Amino acid sequence: MISGRFPLLVPCFCVCLADFYILDDRIGLGRRFDGIGGLSGGGATSRLLVNYEEPYRSQILDYLFKPSFGASLHILKVEIGGDSQTTDGTEPSHMHNEKDENFFRGYEWWLMKEAKKRNPNITLIGLPWAFPGWIGNGTNWPYTFPNITANYVVSWVIGAKQYHNLDIEYIGIWNERDFNAKYIRVLRDTLDRAGLVDVGIIAADGNWDISNALLVDPYLNDAVDVIGVHYPGTTTVKEALLTEKRLWSSEDYSTFNNDIGAGCWARILNQNYVNGRMTSTISWNLIASYYEDLSFGGDGLMTAEEPWSGNYVVESPIWITAHTTQFAQPGWSYLNTVGHLARGGSYVALTDGKGNLTVVIETMSHNHSQCIRPPLPPYSVSPQTATFQLKGSFAALTELQQWYTKFDFETKKDVLFKKTDPIKIQNGYFSLTLDVDEVYTVTTIASGQKGLYPDPPKSAPFPKKYFDDFDARNPPFSEAPYFADQTGVFEYFRNLTDPGPHIFTLRQAVSQRPVSWSYDADQTISVVGDHSWQDLTLSCDIYIEAANGGVFVAARVNQAGESVRNAMGVFYWVFGNGTYKVTNDIGGQKVLAEGLSGTRPGVWHTLTLTVKGDFAFGMLNGYPLWKNAVVLQPKNGWAAIGTHSFEFAQFDNFLVDAD
Ligand SMILES: *[C@@H]1O[C@H](CO)[C@@H](O)[C@H](O)[C@H]1NC(C)=O
Ligand SMILES: *[C@@H]1O[C@H](CO)[C@@H](O)[C@H](O)[C@H]1NC(C)=O
Ligand SMILES: *[C@@H]1O[C@H](CO)[C@@H](O)[C@H](O)[C@H]1NC(C)=O
Ligand SMILES: *[C@@H]1O[C@H](CO)[C@@H](O)[C@H](O)[C@H]1NC(C)=O
Ligand SMILES: *[C@@H]1O[C@H](CO)[C@@H](O)[C@H](O)[C@H]1NC(C)=O
Ligand SMILES: *[C@@H]1O[C@H](CO)[C@@H](O)[C@H](O)[C@H]1NC(C)=O
Ligand SMILES: *[C@@H]1O[C@H](CO)[C@@H](O)[C@H](O)[C@H]1NC(C)=O
Repeated sequence: MISGRFPLLVPCFCVCLADFYILDDRIGLGRRFDGIGGLSGGGATSRLLVNYEEPYRSQILDYLFKPSFGASLHILKVEIGGDSQTTDGTEPSHMHNEKDENFFRGYEWWLMKEAKKRNPNITLIGLPWAFPGWIGNGTNWPYTFPNITANYVVSWVIGAKQYHNLDIEYIGIWNERDFNAKYIRVLRDTLDRAGLVDVGIIAADGNWDISNALLVDPYLNDAVDVIGVHYPGTTTVKEALLTEKRLWSSEDYSTFNNDIGAGCWARILNQNYVNGRMTSTISWNLIASYYEDLSFGGDGLMTAEEPWSGNYVVESPIWITAHTTQFAQPGWSYLNTVGHLARGGSYVALTDGKGNLTVVIETMSHNHSQCIRPPLPPYSVSPQTATFQLKGSFAALTELQQWYTKFDFETKKDVLFKKTDPIKIQNGYFSLTLDVDEVYTVTTIASGQKGLYPDPPKSAPFPKKYFDDFDARNPPFSEAPYFADQTGVFEYFRNLTDPGPHIFTLRQAVSQRPVSWSYDADQTISVVGDHSWQDLTLSCDIYIEAANGGVFVAARVNQAGESVRNAMGVFYWVFGNGTYKVTNDIGGQKVLAEGLSGTRPGVWHTLTLTVKGDFAFGMLNGYPLWKNAVVLQPKNGWAAIGTHSFEFAQFDNFLVDAD
């Protein structure tokens, strides 16, 4: 670090020792900074987080949300559950059907409250990916009856306030799907009539196309507060700028959270403003808290995918986030003096308008900051010396705090968010010697902190022996620990008229195909355990409710998430019509064995499935029913339970014993 090396420097030409940049607020300020956020959902990305024991769960939440500690996020965006597969699982709707209303399902309410507890100023956003089947009234489309859909979404906003005292600040339309101008206007009107005039609309969580619509439709223009785009690759379009709306990258990053992912994130956070004038960036996803073998494993700001061990990993994107979030708050403004560095990289400067200044500089090289989508063309970054001249309100500053990150991909000796000696400013100038793959924050804000807890427990696989009788008297969550719903919703159920022993069960509660976003299976399924499991015995009490319904237990389920429709494994089904079937696939086409079982609806049965090497065996109510079904593929996968269609069914006394 060399400070004040060129006390009388003028913009340099010819023999350049340093490149020269001005930071000045006298030429007017740039756009308002709206904050950095994380996205829980789209879908079920925080599924495993809720089952961490204390103190680990609170520690993780502190790394995400606590001000001046870790990522210190300004925004939490959540999925409005739609009973449907939305990438890594399904999240339950607050209205499974028209007459149903329940604001205690899933974990997003809890997460929002935990975030708010830590940062009362955090901005909350809700966005639907999918909708329960009754939305659309049989048309499988949320815009057929705009009022029904708008009332549904607004009821979620009202419920957030009424049951959890949460103020939702923004609501979206339909994640990465067509927007509908009429629906947006009806949504605005429905919000207003409910007295929710302060709830803003973000549209359309897709590409920039809505900009054109806003320019020609004044009613639509009035209804929309923020243009939200996904994966903009740091650039915007002319039409978006012409709208004069706030522009947000309302979903971005989606990259594995190693150092290359962190480099991607550093570049995005600066350049979304420098290139694209976007004033907020939201990471998909918030935290990788889902089974790693689901879609996009490890794509969060940090990783917490082992509630059974308590192990979690504070990954480098947390500290990249801290470089901005701990030193600038929503409501600050960008300076007009932001841009690219002469030899690659970028700088942004922000002010609170009261004399505080924060400058964030990144020099990520192309190879070490590659985002998954969209991939950016190669570019080069070289070591350089940058001299900054402070003008306007900042001209008299004499010292700036300094925080530093360096990714060293050869030695792997990274420096992450380290506080270094303050920079002395001489006559309004300071210089930084910048190497490649670095991030600097220089700031007047002194409250930065690199939060730290003792190391969490060591990583450990899911227990080989696992039992749940679902007898949770007052469950904190509607879902049983570790069960990750992939189609349908499996929730605690209490049948008070049951004489026992099946008063407390787990019930599949979605009885109609949802208005999907991704690819729900035609069956429902919830997976649990360890994807590397091979040989095991699994037993479960099951209760078919529908006359022509059916239920399965399964082992070696090899895929879920977005490819749940193609899941292979060993599926042992029994049906209400007195038959059974063993199939190699969830679709039920690749039959390994079948026959009569005598199973009926409205009666509890016990299914036992054993898979050993290339063979599977099945028992019903403790007696052998079928044996020696040949299973050549897959060799490993999760355990699972599920139903033959979107139908009610119950499960009890789930036991798995893996070798
Ligand atoms: C919340 O915002 C207000 C107004 O900007 C500020 O005074 C207060 O310190 C903030 N609180 C926290 C916990 O950041
Ligand atoms: C929904 O569909 C039913 C049956 O098709 C119809 O009777 C009803 O009027 C529809 N509801 C609305 C709001 O259009
Ligand atoms: C639907 O919403 C519009 C706009 O808010 C309203 O004017 C209309 O009366 C509503 N129609 C019904 C059937 O609720
Ligand atoms: C900067 O912000 C802090 C609070 O974060 C405040 O106390 C201080 O007065 C502000 N202004 C300057 C020039 O530091
Ligand atoms: C860096 O990226 C460029 C373009 O993607 C590629 O051609 C080159 O081989 C990469 N270099 C290294 C060292 O990975
Ligand atoms: C509840 O238990 C009663 C008595 O066993 C039974 O008749 C009824 O079908 C059960 N209801 C459900 C939804 O399981
Ligand atoms: C029993 O029900 C299942 C599921 O509906 C169906 O696939 C099967 O063909 C039926 N078997 C008989 C014998 O009716």
